[in-house]
Amino acid sequence: MANVLVIESSARKQGSISRQLTADFVAQWQAANPADQITVRDLAVDQVPHLDSNLLGGWMTPADQQSAAEQAALKLSNTLTDEVLAADVLVLAAPMYNFAIPSTLKSWLDHVLRAGVTFKYTENGPQGLLTGKRAFVLTARGGVYAGSALDHQEPYLRQALGFIGIHDVSFIHAEGLNLGEEHQQKGISAAKAKMAEVA
Ligand SMILES: Cc1cc2nc3c(=O)[nH]c(=O)nc-3n(C[C@H](O)[C@H](O)[C@H](O)COP(=O)(O)O)c2cc1C
Repeated sequence: MANVLVIESSARKQGSISRQLTADFVAQWQAANPADQITVRDLAVDQVPHLDSNLLGGWMTPADQQSAAEQAALKLSNTLTDEVLAADVLVLAAPMYNFAIPSTLKSWLDHVLRAGVTFKYTENGPQGLLTGKRAFVLTARGGVYAGSALDHQEPYLRQALGFIGIHDVSFIHAEGLNLGEEHQQKGISAAKAKMAEVA
């Protein structure tokens, strides 16, 4: 049995195409792997705070010396990190917002890219501590960017996931979603075809 962690990051609760893609992905995954455990962390429902001085202080202070505010800040951060540690498969939904990922998803990454837990510094540079995990990133974009220098989502997410040791990452892009009905349908169909191929 594998643990699958799904991260939703569309601010839309209705009409979201990335949510449609994650729902399709999970349905396909469950059909093929009925015993697997699916956990959903919805960043539009449970807001993840930006990093602040209490959290950074908590990370750097031994447990028996942390203030009450540092311990409170660590609570959610630890939960988010534990979810990643427990996952065998990560499924990240990434709508494109202003040429990049949603700030909620960036905040989540800020919590889970954690020195000493998901990566460590060595004399040869940083080393990812997560091994044997696989990730799928489902993007939804109004325009068309895949493979171009304007795609700031895929290179960034590959870098961030690789940094913590997740190198087996498949991207499924739904593009051209705001270019009219025909482009939208084509974009969704292409993403679903790719999903059937990789999942
Ligand atoms: C605040 C905001 C910013 C956006 N910025 C971009 C952008 O920079 N490039 C783009 O192609 N589409 C952009 N879009 C369009 C979304 O990527 C597109 O609507 C996508 O379907 C959103 O994901 P969702 O359907 O899961 O909510 C933006 C949409 C919103 C709401």
